[in-house]
Amino acid sequence: MPIVISDSGLKSVADPLPSINIDQARLQNWIEELANFSDSASPSVTRVLFSYPDLKARAYVKRLCSEIDLHIREDGAGNIFARWEGSNTALPPVGTGSHIDAIPNAGRFDGTVGVLGGLEAIRALRESGFRPARSIELIVFTSEEPTRFGIGCLGSRMLSGILAPNAARKLRDPEEKSFEELRSLAGYGGKSLEDVKLARGAYAAFVELHIEQGPLLEKENVPIGIVTAIAAPSTLRLVLAGIGGHAGAVLMSERRDALVAGAEIALLVEQAALHNGSADTVATTGIFRIEPGAVNSIPSRARLEIDVRDTDAAIRDRVLDKIEKSAREVSRRRGIELSFEVLNADPPAACDTRLVSVIEDVCGELKILCRRMISRAYHDSLFMAQICPTAMIFIPCRGGVSHRPDEYSSPQQVAKGTEVLSHTLARLSSH
Ligand code: HGY
Ligand code: MN
Ligand code: MN
Repeated sequence: MPIVISDSGLKSVADPLPSINIDQARLQNWIEELANFSDSASPSVTRVLFSYPDLKARAYVKRLCSEIDLHIREDGAGNIFARWEGSNTALPPVGTGSHIDAIPNAGRFDGTVGVLGGLEAIRALRESGFRPARSIELIVFTSEEPTRFGIGCLGSRMLSGILAPNAARKLRDPEEKSFEELRSLAGYGGKSLEDVKLARGAYAAFVELHIEQGPLLEKENVPIGIVTAIAAPSTLRLVLAGIGGHAGAVLMSERRDALVAGAEIALLVEQAALHNGSADTVATTGIFRIEPGAVNSIPSRARLEIDVRDTDAAIRDRVLDKIEKSAREVSRRRGIELSFEVLNADPPAACDTRLVSVIEDVCGELKILCRRMISRAYHDSLFMAQICPTAMIFIPCRGGVSHRPDEYSSPQQVAKGTEVLSHTLARLSSH
């Protein structure tokens, strides 16, 4: 029987796995019901931080948690914690969870599989008669997606202390609404942001279940991925100010067209990622907004938000430098005023090797094929890894598609991931 002792005092004697029953139909029903809380028509899901659908989704998940008697608390950032008390509450709990917010016109599985799968994993363990020594806590992280404020993982970034309360207070959304104003409207204003940060070791371990958002598992017909590292994300915000004017009256030689400058920069972003020697570098100009947006008016302003990632932070940073140099050269040559802001440039995260082995052991005992892999998408685990030993369990998604309405994982795939998560939580919380 393998025994796992980690430097965080995490000890997991590999007791025989309890026999648990994941209710696949119930879990599927939860996913479908949650998907109804959306600002876009089905099958797409749009659920931006603190929007009406987000508030309804939060209430829905909290109701499900209270139906299985979990103890619920929320912090000033809107992170939700639902705890199953263990027999030894002096021990740091084991955490699991993910996010329920969704970018515009997304799918229904990104994030929700980790929240609802985590809840079903806990429910099935309770039903099996298993009793944890360590408490098990489900976390619903605020705003994993960058849609509202431009940076992702707002809730987990604050939990890990990477984003300080005063920096969070400075955040403004595209309509210039502040985080403070929006969190107060959502009912979190009475809670202090200073209390959000958790101490290192606040959890004995954190394990997140998530769809792969890539094609590997499906291609190799492997039902479970065990993440060993999470790629290093970064986001740039560029505002280009040119000179607007009448599309008929201003001659080409006199123009300071902000859109064309932005278009040239967007192409240079692609080139910087394609030709930097690392196949792992990806760069996307995901937001490109222009003003005033009339066919017969020369674009005076352009706002670009650019997502750049690599598994190696140094390589990624070289691409960021190249993009900045190119943007400044284009702006100078075209007589455009440039504001260039790095919204975030995060280090990659290494998952805890002992946790990876525990998940591998569970898959072995359940006779479920698994493979180790990196995550090219970022997740709240990127920041939980700053607080405690962290790992992720991936399930396949059809065609590797995500952040699209046709994102799909089958009920069987979701249930299998939940089964592995449930046993992993049992093993990690039993001592
Ligand atoms: O963009 C990401 O990697 C995540 O899905 N928010
Ligand atoms: Mn996402
Ligand atoms: Mn996600």
